[in-house]
Amino acid sequence: MRILEAMRSDDFEEVVLLQDRRCGLRAILAIHDTSSGPAFGGVRRWRYPREEHALRDVLRLARAMTLKCALAGIPGGGGKVVILDQDDLRAEEAYELLGRHVQQLGGRFYTGPDVGTGHRELSVLARSTEYVTRPDEAGPGDLASATAAGVIAGMRAALEELFGTSSARGLRFAIQGVGEVGAKIARLLVAEGAEISVADLDEGAIERLLAVQPEVEVLPPERLLDASVDVFCPCAMGGVIHDLSLGRLRARLVAGSANNILALPRHGEELHRRGIVYLPDYVLNAGALILGSAFHLRGVREVGAEIERIGETIRWILRTAREEGESPMSVADREAERRIAEARAKGRPFFPKQSTR
Ligand code: NAI
Repeated sequence: MRILEAMRSDDFEEVVLLQDRRCGLRAILAIHDTSSGPAFGGVRRWRYPREEHALRDVLRLARAMTLKCALAGIPGGGGKVVILDQDDLRAEEAYELLGRHVQQLGGRFYTGPDVGTGHRELSVLARSTEYVTRPDEAGPGDLASATAAGVIAGMRAALEELFGTSSARGLRFAIQGVGEVGAKIARLLVAEGAEISVADLDEGAIERLLAVQPEVEVLPPERLLDASVDVFCPCAMGGVIHDLSLGRLRARLVAGSANNILALPRHGEELHRRGIVYLPDYVLNAGALILGSAFHLRGVREVGAEIERIGETIRWILRTAREEGESPMSVADREAERRIAEARAKGRPFFPKQSTR
């Protein structure tokens, strides 16, 4: 993959490659767009089979963050870091070093959690950079709860459009992945009287959920897609809707927190053709970004009303899609692109004054 060419095709501002032999850090930091303000994006630590996969992932994720900012009305853009996980990675030193690189950007990029980067890693990052979402009381609060609240707000709007009621009572949901976000969504839906089936590769995650929510049905991960449900709620990894999985879905609505749920954009069109409503992931899972960016940019922790607005955005997307005969994904993409183009026409890449830390 040719990096500059990849950057040009999706209009990236900056891609930084990081390497340190001592701690085994190999990472890519990508900043997609800062025309509206600083870039936001978490750190993903993953065992990529090939370097090229890591590059593709970081570019895709960073760009999605710009789209997410655009549709959530956040004065910021998208960025991301991926760390190529490997046996000789000395994680603590690697995160501390990464923090120094983030610090050096002086507030052009704010980072936070993602797959492989949880409370412990964020605390290490916070030793060397102030531009990280801290997991303790000095931070904005529980990001996963904010994400779950946003997914529920968007889902409610969609349920109303599809089934004529915003209540989940009596509806059947299949939740893939009951980690931080999925478990919270399960609890919120159970409280409302929904019927929930869940699956997770990690038995510990299932046990933790069953301890507080014994009424959920547990299915083997490979059977969840075939479950006869109203809503499929992917809260694990991305790429879950692809050529082979598509035909197995029985749900009428796909709505979850996972990033990049569709393996390819055309799968959004294929769902639409089959009459399955797909709520664009980057609209639905913006809760953590809304909370994190409000905290960093405005020092605010109360963002309940802003997260609820995800519901209004989803409603607008579904109505426009219906009127125009398009898929919700293409309506969302077009509107996000329009807003990004407008910001680019007015703004310039964001370079803050360097901090002295
Ligand atoms: P997590 O790592 O806490 O939970 C993910 C769960 O999915 C784990 O328990 C894992 O065992 C399970 N899993 C992985 N592959 C699976 C499979 N094939 N079948 C069943 N279960 C599987 O992650 P978290 O924080 O709950 O995030 C979930 C998704 O939401 C991720 O895609 C993440 O990128 C996305 N997201 C999370 C946000 C947050 O605030 N935590 C914000 C925005 C997006």
